[in-house]
Amino acid sequence: MKTIVALPGEGIGPEVVDATCEVLTGTGLPLQISTPPQGAAAVKSHGVPLPDETKSAARAADGVLFGAAGGPDTSAVVAWLRWEMSAWGGARLIKYHPGMRSPLADPEGIDYVIVRENSEGLYPGREGDLADLSRVMPDLSDRSGRTLKEYGEGRFAVKVVTPVGAERIARFACKLAKARKARGKPGKVTCVTKSNVMPRSDGLFKETAERIAREAGLAFEHFYVDDAARRLVRFPKSMDVVLSMNLYADILSDLGAETAGGLGLAPSGCFGDGWAYFESVHGSAPDIAGKGIANPTATIRSAAMMLEHMGLAAEGERLEAAVARVYRDGKVMTPDQGGTARTRDLAQAVLAAYRNS
Ligand code: NAI
Ligand code: MG
Repeated sequence: MKTIVALPGEGIGPEVVDATCEVLTGTGLPLQISTPPQGAAAVKSHGVPLPDETKSAARAADGVLFGAAGGPDTSAVVAWLRWEMSAWGGARLIKYHPGMRSPLADPEGIDYVIVRENSEGLYPGREGDLADLSRVMPDLSDRSGRTLKEYGEGRFAVKVVTPVGAERIARFACKLAKARKARGKPGKVTCVTKSNVMPRSDGLFKETAERIAREAGLAFEHFYVDDAARRLVRFPKSMDVVLSMNLYADILSDLGAETAGGLGLAPSGCFGDGWAYFESVHGSAPDIAGKGIANPTATIRSAAMMLEHMGLAAEGERLEAAVARVYRDGKVMTPDQGGTARTRDLAQAVLAAYRNS
């Protein structure tokens, strides 16, 4: 028996996680799924958004599936899953199956992974007043020679890149590229930064990625993030493993998700040292929450990735293939895909396809 902890989050999170858990249960696999208290309900019952019992259950589980964060209670859940547990590497699958509603004319064959550095960059949220920074770094000046003091009143955000952080995410991307190569993919790492304007921080990320990829014997290319955004739209099929920094990869993964059929379809896994959890790329979608029409595909595919991580790779592949079948048939589609089906209908269609495969 394998154990799974499902943390729904809020908004459409509970809708897509419930539907996904029904699929997992329906597969008949030896899985024991629990949903310990979290979010607003946990604040009511335990006084905190993520009680210790939930943390220990997640730590002990074979698989952890998260829905989506929205307000402060569920942001605290992500803060623990990602920051405190140090899930420093994100893998976001951008994979099209026929029937998925891509805005591109010829999306067939889009199949790549965006690897997101999850722990550094701008995201941990170190912000402050310019005056404070200016006091400790009075000589820090920009390209035009302007010091912080000369800006007057203002705020700053600190972007951090460390050799350790850059190297471990580069190795992670290379490992993924090699595993994909073994399955017939090109085995290429495409690094995305803005090292032309930030040669020290982004430059360190780029140089590290290039060195590690070359050492691994993988093909390597680099594009500036503005050019990369264009390329992901124009040449998505030329991508294999796209490696980027926290903020860029966050933005590019929504873009990539859309080219492959929509944000409601893109799954991800977040990995640390001896720790992983799985979640859709999308958020809590407050505009459609509570209506029962959210697309559960991203979460079902995240569960497929989770199964692989749990040592059930064949079952994960079978679940992904079931998703592909449902889209190829095109009979049960949620509104984002141009249909009228509800969240649960689509999930049940995937389960039926799984059972019949
Ligand atoms: P969002 O990803 O929640 O939604 C963007 C758009 O995509 C909306 O129009 C939404 O209806 C649509 N969409 C998303 N998932 C869908 C699905 N499964 N089926 C059909 N349509 C779907 O991003 P937004 O609106 O910028 O953020 C809403 C909240 O989610 C914010 O509080 C944000 O901070 C949070 N968020 C949380 C994330 C997480 O938990 N990892 C990731 C992204 C955003
Ligand atoms: Mg995002």
